[in-house]
Amino acid sequence: MRVAQRIGLLTGEGALEVYARAKELERAGRSVIHLELGEPDFHPAPQVLEAGRTAIAHGRDRYCASRGLPELRTAIAGYLIQTRALTCGAENVLVASGCKLALFLAMMALIEPGDEVLYPEPGFPIYPSVARCFGARPVAHRLLEANDFQPDLDEIVRLATPRTKVLILCSPNNPTGTVYSPQTLAGLARLARERDWWVISDEIYARIVYEKTFTSIATLDGMAERTIIIDGFSKSFAMTGWRLGYAVAPLAVIEALDKLVMNTFTCASEFVQVAAIEAIAQPRAVETMVAEYRRRRDVFAVGLDEIPGIRCRLPEGAFYAWARVANAEAVQRKLLEAAGVAAIHGLAFGASGVDYLRFSFAGASSELEEALRRIRCTMNV
Ligand SMILES: Cc1ncc(COP(=O)(O)O)c(C=O)c1O
Repeated sequence: MRVAQRIGLLTGEGALEVYARAKELERAGRSVIHLELGEPDFHPAPQVLEAGRTAIAHGRDRYCASRGLPELRTAIAGYLIQTRALTCGAENVLVASGCKLALFLAMMALIEPGDEVLYPEPGFPIYPSVARCFGARPVAHRLLEANDFQPDLDEIVRLATPRTKVLILCSPNNPTGTVYSPQTLAGLARLARERDWWVISDEIYARIVYEKTFTSIATLDGMAERTIIIDGFSKSFAMTGWRLGYAVAPLAVIEALDKLVMNTFTCASEFVQVAAIEAIAQPRAVETMVAEYRRRRDVFAVGLDEIPGIRCRLPEGAFYAWARVANAEAVQRKLLEAAGVAAIHGLAFGASGVDYLRFSFAGASSELEEALRRIRCTMNV
């Protein structure tokens, strides 16, 4: 007896594998600083927790609307209009149990066997994994340091074929922290329009930007009708374990996604959705958190860059330091096994990440300082 072949086409996620090993070391009594997961050390505002508790106490623990609670969909549309200048309504929003699920469903709704999917590399490893699972050929376009980690439009033109169906963007990018420039976005939008591509825009880090301003490709001319935005509550509202994400798309895509929801998870948890409405009503919480991430970035990424053998640019968004390190794979292993610092080898984000390590700076400052001390010792400084 065998499981379906498509399962063999899926890969894991490097971060989760390192996390499992780090936990094993901790069970054996070792101290480990977890810089492998994008897990904020913040928790949602007290009002959000209270809204969730009250919802449970009032029996809001039943099945509910498959597209999401109408009040939440309206709140999400309002939030995106306000913070991202999108033109959308509640009818364009579908709620899912996590961004990853929204992404998976969007890819299932768009991809046919034999299609080609262009995705950024280094990038979130789930993009090529899921594309392959649905019978597509994932085609990596690179975000290289020599090009300030921006997508290279000439390379994308070279890689595109008549079979290209979907272009995936992730700005700010995980792991490089790149915020796509206005020129890049305009060029990508032009290509998508000319060649009739769908665009999946993973905007999970859209609120976590530092000096630059985030622009959604969906706001450019003719793009709302071909773009599916993926976002959610994990990072911007520090609600990773609540598992709540959403897709914003043209109505025909929302209807397709709704069918997939009915055939899979039925609906996202109602009391979590009620709490999410309260999270959106607390806009200052995001700003306070981002100000703190910026302080952590300025200590941690700068600190890494000062260590001989490591080079790290200041990320423009998200909360990852993408550091160039000689013998990156061996250093990653030594950091974890000998020094108790869990980071991820860049190869987990694609071949062009081979000389890099990714460190999350979403954790507490005191831990980041101790991690820097341990990294310095490991690098023999
Ligand atoms: C680029 C990107 N997209 C999607 C996700 C998944 O988000 P969620 O936890 O809401 O499923 C992550 C999580 O790390 C991510 O980095």
